[in-house]
Amino acid sequence: MAILITGGTGFIGSHTCISLTEAGYDVVIVDNYYNSSPKSLARICELCGKDLKFYECDIRDKAGLQRVFTENKIDAVIHFAGLKAVGESCQKPLEYYDNNVNGTLCLCDVMRQNGCKNIVFSSSATVYGMHNVSPLKETMPTGGTTNPYGTTKYMIEIILQDIAKADPAWNVTLLRYFNPIGAHKSGRIGENPNGIPNNLMPYITQVAIGKLPELSVYGDDYDTPDGTGVRDYIHVVDLAEGHVKALDQMLTGNKGVQIFNLGTGVGYSVLDIIHAFEEANGVKIPYKIVGRRPGDIATCYSDPTKAREVLGWETKRGLREMCEDSWRWQSMNPNGF
Ligand code: NAD
Ligand code: UFG
Repeated sequence: MAILITGGTGFIGSHTCISLTEAGYDVVIVDNYYNSSPKSLARICELCGKDLKFYECDIRDKAGLQRVFTENKIDAVIHFAGLKAVGESCQKPLEYYDNNVNGTLCLCDVMRQNGCKNIVFSSSATVYGMHNVSPLKETMPTGGTTNPYGTTKYMIEIILQDIAKADPAWNVTLLRYFNPIGAHKSGRIGENPNGIPNNLMPYITQVAIGKLPELSVYGDDYDTPDGTGVRDYIHVVDLAEGHVKALDQMLTGNKGVQIFNLGTGVGYSVLDIIHAFEEANGVKIPYKIVGRRPGDIATCYSDPTKAREVLGWETKRGLREMCEDSWRWQSMNPNGF
């Protein structure tokens, strides 16, 4: 069975290509290398032990996508391709709406023309907005997103649900990720941020390796046990395995629209992460407390019960392993790929 992975050479996509290959699926990757590189593809193939079919193509290029569908019998699409930097999305809203929303419209149109109506979409906990109280459940209201990136995720969720409503032949699975960190055990693939990282774990690993002098902790006056922000960090390989389970389930019959949180259900603070990283790896992380980052919320963690009950999926890798694997990737690849 052939699965098209858009954004398959990126951080989460690369790990998912490996989990899918291990599960016996044939993988076809489309990526425009905007935020990844041929080196990532080479490492994915090395870890899969075979060459995966790859197309360098933008998902907004319908003719290019059509070629992929003509040359391969695609049974389902896992759609990772998109821009993901919250801050940048406030500076470049047009680019974000075009790439993420318009890109998804182009992809779905080509899928429909080729009779492929199974899609798994990379959504985010960000669709729960600022006002729901954790643990977040799939039944809670969504929307009220505070930046264009988050709004693209919210809009795409609505669009895909409308497509499935209009044509019941569509199967749409929306996966709401919490905070993916960690890396493949081999240390050969991992997250490769451009420039100074926005997210906590890549920032910590770059401090650990000496590329950045110290971490800024954004606020210690939140209403949380130690005052710093609490998040649900999930190992990227657990996340990848969640995609395999979601796909297995979607392909065993017409399921319509399904929505799942992919998280651990456990919240850790910024200071918890710093201390866990130091303890797991024997490296010191110098940090200073600074003001809150605009747009951040105090606490965000999942209720992962639905994914456990319906998909039979739960996370297996704890915080220590996430810290060890993030550090192995960074220390083996000080400058990324
Ligand atoms: P990533 O940037 O590492 O991977 C995205 C990939 O998509 C990159 O390889 C990039 O080159 C490619 N891409 C971007 N626009 C494209 C286009 N128009 N055509 C073809 N390829 C394109 O990001 P990631 O962390 O792996 O995230 C994957 C998906 O998961 C994204 O949709 C992201 O919004 C979503 N997500 C990520 C997180 C996170 O914290 N990493 C959290 C929630 C949701
Ligand atoms: N943080 C710091 N210092 C840093 C970076 C982050 O203290 O240098 C703190 C943040 O304030 C927050 C926590 O670490 O409390 C996690 O921050 P991240 O930037 O790693 O992650 P976010 O939870 O802010 O964002 C993530 C994804 C977004 C997504 C959002 C909501 O990166 O794509 O979750 O789901 F929109």
